[in-house]
Amino acid sequence: MCGIVCYKGSLDAKNVIIEGLERLEYRGYDSAGVSLIDNGKMETIKRSGKLSNLKDTLKDYKINSNIGIGHIRWATHGAPTDINSHPHLSNDGNISIVHNGIIENFKELKDELIEEGYHFVSSTDTEVIAVLISKYYNGDLLEAVQKARKDLKGSYALGVLAQSEPDRLICLREESPLILGITDNGVILGSDIPSLLKYTNNVIYLENGDLVDCKNGYTIYDSNDNVVDREIKEIKWSLEDASKEGYDHFMIKEIFEQPKAISDCLRNKVIDKKIDLGDASFSKEEIEKINRIYIVACGTANYAGNIGKYCFEKFTQIPVTNEIASEFRYADPIIDENTLLILVSQSGETADTLAALREGKKHGATTVVVTNVVGSSIDREADKSIYCLAGPEIAVASTKAYTTQVMSLYILALDFAIKTNKISQEKLDDILNEIIKLPQKIQEILDNTDIIKKYAKEIKDYESVFYIGRGLDYYSVIEGALKLKEVSYIHAESFAAGELKHGTIALIEKDTPVIAVATQEKIIDKTISNVEEVISRGAKVFAICGKSCEKLEESSYIYYRLPDTIDSLYPILTVIPEQLLAYYTSLEKGLDVDKPRNLAKSVTVE
Ligand code: F6R
Repeated sequence: MCGIVCYKGSLDAKNVIIEGLERLEYRGYDSAGVSLIDNGKMETIKRSGKLSNLKDTLKDYKINSNIGIGHIRWATHGAPTDINSHPHLSNDGNISIVHNGIIENFKELKDELIEEGYHFVSSTDTEVIAVLISKYYNGDLLEAVQKARKDLKGSYALGVLAQSEPDRLICLREESPLILGITDNGVILGSDIPSLLKYTNNVIYLENGDLVDCKNGYTIYDSNDNVVDREIKEIKWSLEDASKEGYDHFMIKEIFEQPKAISDCLRNKVIDKKIDLGDASFSKEEIEKINRIYIVACGTANYAGNIGKYCFEKFTQIPVTNEIASEFRYADPIIDENTLLILVSQSGETADTLAALREGKKHGATTVVVTNVVGSSIDREADKSIYCLAGPEIAVASTKAYTTQVMSLYILALDFAIKTNKISQEKLDDILNEIIKLPQKIQEILDNTDIIKKYAKEIKDYESVFYIGRGLDYYSVIEGALKLKEVSYIHAESFAAGELKHGTIALIEKDTPVIAVATQEKIIDKTISNVEEVISRGAKVFAICGKSCEKLEESSYIYYRLPDTIDSLYPILTVIPEQLLAYYTSLEKGLDVDKPRNLAKSVTVE
């Protein structure tokens, strides 16, 4: 999982590529490199560590180039060293490659190439591609790449240069994302939209197997080497949308954007107080055919799926299984043409979620994706798409994507329910009336952060923090704990509060930090009893409460009262203080909050 940016045009290629890579840092950041051709000579410069190391190194080079390829790496094969950084070169140094993805058969290919007399200096799978292309190279880079690709198995987006053809850039996508941006003065290709936005809003979402030959303008070939036309689309995001706008970090910017994100998310789903999902709508007949729903996703998106499961079961009475995508595809799930598979993915590129979608389709399921990235791979392959419309999410830790995923699933469940008469119009109106107040309520929470900052200061040096809740609150604390783990590196564990006495409570001692969420009226007394159990054992409780749990005001260390809403909508509010707590704790610890160690934003490998 890495990012690539390639450029050919009349501008300084080094600047265009480095700026693009800066916007891709969320995809990986253990090393970076570029190859640039200046006056017929190719220079390849690469450094382990953050992109800033490469930028510092480049200051020593006087390169005047209009063509180049660049890469930011998150290691999958080989340690993050200078040698393993991309670009990788062929043995004769003529071919240079940047690669995002994995070559599954690289060992076999490497062995064959070694037998044929080639040698390798890195432990990456990518070097094999450079050597393979050079093996087929006979003065025509296009022909060599087209031959080499036939030998490759796996997922890859590639940028390729040959010193002997200094005016030619070739890029190729197979499973890994790659977008072609068209500018007035050249072409720029990148792994995602923000890497191109400074230079263009006109893009082509390359399809699987597409190869772009940038020599005179650009020509696109499909996987059968036929020239194809692809539609140019206009991106509505501005570069400003994808930058920090005065916030210290993307994570806090994105947390604070949630009132707007929820409004935007609702804008194209609830029109004149009526649900209208446009092309993503299901007819009554389609819904009545469904006898089982799987929600499938990874990480935070999977946790949004927990809330989705609750909503579908509550409002539609259709049985729902919420599955982790990497498990789903190997678990022989029971799927037929009456199954609905809902994929949830911010990026729309997560490899396991994409594979789950394909598995579902293979067995005849109807598929619908809830995604934030229009034109992403999962978006294009699913039968129907519901867009979160949260705007670009850059911080590695997902925040606004989560709340808009929950909102989207909630609306879809309500749409199913009203179309099949599972809820009355009156009930739906009441719920929609509450939904439209959510942005204002989130804003109230965002205006009240002092107490959260105080608790963050106190927990920053703890090794473990516990999160407890029941019912929907349990689902919410699972996400809260993940946020704290990701950005503060504190071990955080979530528990169904009723389970504590079956083991976990043994871990509670004086001053153990416990974040307790208590919003669900039906079970509030039970939740309060569970919170009291940990308080009486000395826990320092941060209680995030709804309207009916005043009892905790006296007994908890911090009592945080959320604005009122209906029970089923509380998850969209409870997660906000949880996200803020994670952010401020990370700040207190002086960590790299937007780019936590070992993580990358878009997980395009299994
Ligand atoms: C956590 C986080 C990840 C993602 C997961 C799925 O904050 O961001 O757990 O939710 O990697 O990513 P998408 O939603 O892009 O499929």
